[in-house]
Amino acid sequence: MEIVAIMGSHRNSHNTQKAIDYFISKIKVEHELYEYNINEKEIKACIACDYCIPHQGECVTKDDMTEIYKKMETCDLLIVASPVYFSAFPSRIKALIDRTQMIYNLEDRSNIKKKKILIIGIGGAPHYPRQFQAMDNTLEWYKKTLSCDEIGFVQFSHTDELPVLDNKKCLKELTEIAEKINTP
Ligand SMILES: Cc1cc2nc3c(=O)[nH]c(=O)nc-3n(C[C@H](O)[C@H](O)[C@H](O)COP(=O)(O)O)c2cc1C
Repeated sequence: MEIVAIMGSHRNSHNTQKAIDYFISKIKVEHELYEYNINEKEIKACIACDYCIPHQGECVTKDDMTEIYKKMETCDLLIVASPVYFSAFPSRIKALIDRTQMIYNLEDRSNIKKKKILIIGIGGAPHYPRQFQAMDNTLEWYKKTLSCDEIGFVQFSHTDELPVLDNKKCLKELTEIAEKINTP
């Protein structure tokens, strides 16, 4: 299976990356992994030019999204892992999500492969109402656009005090999701 993992933290090798690594370490089925660290990719903002309406399947901006579009369309499992900044997606991964407008604007999306999506939310503060609500709202149309079936939204709160690898409850959730993938 093809797995695409998008790492949305502006810090490398911290909680978000560790949560992805943990989950991937539990996947026992044969897979190819394409990891996109948002800090290492050039992803410009959507300029709302509507070029992708008359030019179906093409974005006017040529940058690393050209490859990411293809992988997001054809993978079997998509992992979107991100911290919340001001209770929302950080700007770099939000730019990636906004650029998915090119796929949203396809008149025929039947070629977009049906896939699973795992969402991992990371919040430094102790859990509070709506800590991950904006992520959930933002991903509603992203999931529909990419033909995703959500298999979990694991929410790590209080990472400033409880690093992800010490959060046994959330790690168990990730392990259980991986086990479902391992034994289809
Ligand atoms: C600009 C900024 C805004 C943040 N806003 C929030 C917030 O609204 N809610 C929250 O729970 N944590 C917030 N945090 C904390 C991060 O979510 C937390 O540090 C998280 O662990 C970062 O992920 P990382 O360890 O992978 O970098 C914020 C951090 C930054 C840098």
